[in-house]
Amino acid sequence: MKPKVIVYHRIPREIKAEIEEKCETVYFEHLNSPQDPHFLQELKEAHGIMGTKLKVNRELLDRAPLLKVVSTISVGYDNLDIPELTKRKIMATHTPDVLNETTADAIFGLLLATARRISELDLYVKKGQWNQMIDEDLFGVDVHHKVLGIIGMGRIGSAIAKRAHLGFDMKILYHNRSRNFEAEQKYGARFCSLDELLAESDFVCLMVPLTPETENLMGENEFKKMKKSAIFINGSRGKTVNEKDLVAALQNGTILAAGLDVYQQEPIDPENPLLRLNNVVTLPHIGSATFETRFKMAKLAAENLVKGVTGERPPNLINP
Ligand code: DGY
Repeated sequence: MKPKVIVYHRIPREIKAEIEEKCETVYFEHLNSPQDPHFLQELKEAHGIMGTKLKVNRELLDRAPLLKVVSTISVGYDNLDIPELTKRKIMATHTPDVLNETTADAIFGLLLATARRISELDLYVKKGQWNQMIDEDLFGVDVHHKVLGIIGMGRIGSAIAKRAHLGFDMKILYHNRSRNFEAEQKYGARFCSLDELLAESDFVCLMVPLTPETENLMGENEFKKMKKSAIFINGSRGKTVNEKDLVAALQNGTILAAGLDVYQQEPIDPENPLLRLNNVVTLPHIGSATFETRFKMAKLAAENLVKGVTGERPPNLINP
């Protein structure tokens, strides 16, 4: 008998076929709540589940007595309770590496858009407001030859450093749990304390995973340590930043601007004050979302899932 799996995310047809070859598969392409009775019913018999963002915690696992694999279609896995999964001998897998370059493109694009006020100026032109000489009101700030501070020099952080160093002649500072010698050698990145990075950088780019140590890493004190002319970019997770403090820092001129791909609450509440600030550029948590990369992520997640439920070791196991 084939193992049973649930896929709670829309994935390409070819990848569905690959999973179906080895598994009995149930799809929930638009799962709105883990409390969905049909989903809970299927979960009782599932050996594997695959998708994104679903909070896999003790409560959910209590409803999944046969589960062997949880395959998230993302590199980040803060939505998975890893200690609880490990205790229950359930494999957790993710999709690293295939999204590094694409996410770095998006985050570097966000940095450029924020520095050069691209979304604001796009609207200015489209709304027919360009009826006089452009003057200082619309100027941005240079990116090239500036100092970029990367907090979290992992795989994606390094891909951002590559763009900044090779394409924009930027000086790179970084703060990380451990030294990244490759980034130091290839991109001239210099390891330093968080305080030094905040004080010296023209752009502070946050790329850490969300963990108890990084939750609220950036708050009032940290924003105060940044230059008044500095721009903050968040490509990690919303909860790494105290959003109220960020709003205050942007409103009172503690920092110049922010480019954000992630938020405390996603989708973001339309009433969130961040959305009313002209010095904020927003994206809807879309760093890895290109056709090519999302395909690769789904393919990798499917391989992790199928291998896990058929007794092979998945290539991207998080818990040993
Ligand atoms: C990831 O892969 O972790 C991206 O942030 C999408 O969730």
